[in-house]
Amino acid sequence: MTLKIGWIGCGIHATQMLLPQLVRHDVELVALCDIDAKRLASAGRQFGVSTLTTDANELIKTPGIDAVGMAVGPDQHLAFGKAALEHGLPVFMEKPPSGSAAGARELQAASEKSGKPLLLGFMKRYSAGNKIAANIVRSGRFGDVLGLTGYYMTAPGYFVGNVDYTGFFLHHCVHYMDLVSFLVSPVTKLTARKVEKEPGKVLFHINFDFQCGAIGTIVMGTIQSRGAPVERIEIMGDHQRIEVDNVIDIRWNRNPPFKVDDPAATLTDAIDSLTWKPNFTAAANEDPKGYYSLLSDVVPALGGATTAAPSIHDGVIAMERLEMLRTELAL
Ligand SMILES: NC(=O)c1ccc[n+]([C@@H]2O[C@H](COP(=O)([O-])OP(=O)(O)OC[C@H]3O[C@@H](n4cnc5c(N)ncnc54)[C@H](O)[C@@H]3O)[C@@H](O)[C@H]2O)c1
Repeated sequence: MTLKIGWIGCGIHATQMLLPQLVRHDVELVALCDIDAKRLASAGRQFGVSTLTTDANELIKTPGIDAVGMAVGPDQHLAFGKAALEHGLPVFMEKPPSGSAAGARELQAASEKSGKPLLLGFMKRYSAGNKIAANIVRSGRFGDVLGLTGYYMTAPGYFVGNVDYTGFFLHHCVHYMDLVSFLVSPVTKLTARKVEKEPGKVLFHINFDFQCGAIGTIVMGTIQSRGAPVERIEIMGDHQRIEVDNVIDIRWNRNPPFKVDDPAATLTDAIDSLTWKPNFTAAANEDPKGYYSLLSDVVPALGGATTAAPSIHDGVIAMERLEMLRTELAL
């Protein structure tokens, strides 16, 4: 059944990342909403939608829609998410699910009350390298995860003349508050320390204890250029290590013998390192960032199927962790 979707927020992320991937699935975009008339008209033209409104509540009441999607901002996600669920519609929303853990819990309650799912845009789980890493760990071939290290950096652009780290936490850090548990296991303890070079330029190291016994450190901050790679993950096991660089370059190191004494030295499927990176010259491209793969789970879930799509349950956990982090850092 083709799912009829009403969409709120026709900004950069929606028009460049989400909607182009969404319409590859079995959906019909039937109505769009944005308070910016120019963006609304442009999105309508790009995606061939003629039912356009500047009023999100009107969009939610569009006759015949099966689900609502949105990429707006924290406060709007809370208000429109609740309104759509109360109207009996399943929802997909970008992160963050509101601006606070309390808001995320309100959304969870609204989803439970209506019996309709609320799916979230935690696409880092689906970014090519992270997806492969998670599947290797889950395959049983990796053994126990003992450690996680990684970094996620960005630039201080948001803070020029207005030093408020809220946006950095809500729009960036929240991703890794979800991803670490997706890759390892639930977090049982979180501590952190920081250095602030000048207002707006912060670096912090977060330590995680995981339920499975593993330890982790993630480095985050606002002191790197957005024009250079800003993400790296390493999962440490016993004579096994997975490295994911820039979400697309993946290397699985295992336990190869030294090659020096072996005249027949070769590469063996089961013990040598395996690497992968996508072919960016192919016309039918890979999905490095993971939006297409995320929506492959989200669309059927909006239609009532059980899939692995991240839900508001994951959102509550990530937002609670985020608040713990901010308290730890006093930022
Ligand atoms: N997962 C990711 O990789 C990723 C990347 C970028 C952005 N995002 C998320 O997507 C969301 C949007 O980000 P963006 O970069 O596209 O921002 P943006 O400012 O370009 O887009 C937001 C749009 O919402 C519209 N809007 C604001 N208030 C509205 C209202 N009351 N009713 C209807 N429309 C309204 C704005 O006019 C704007 O067009 C944010 O929550 C952000 O965190 C996620």
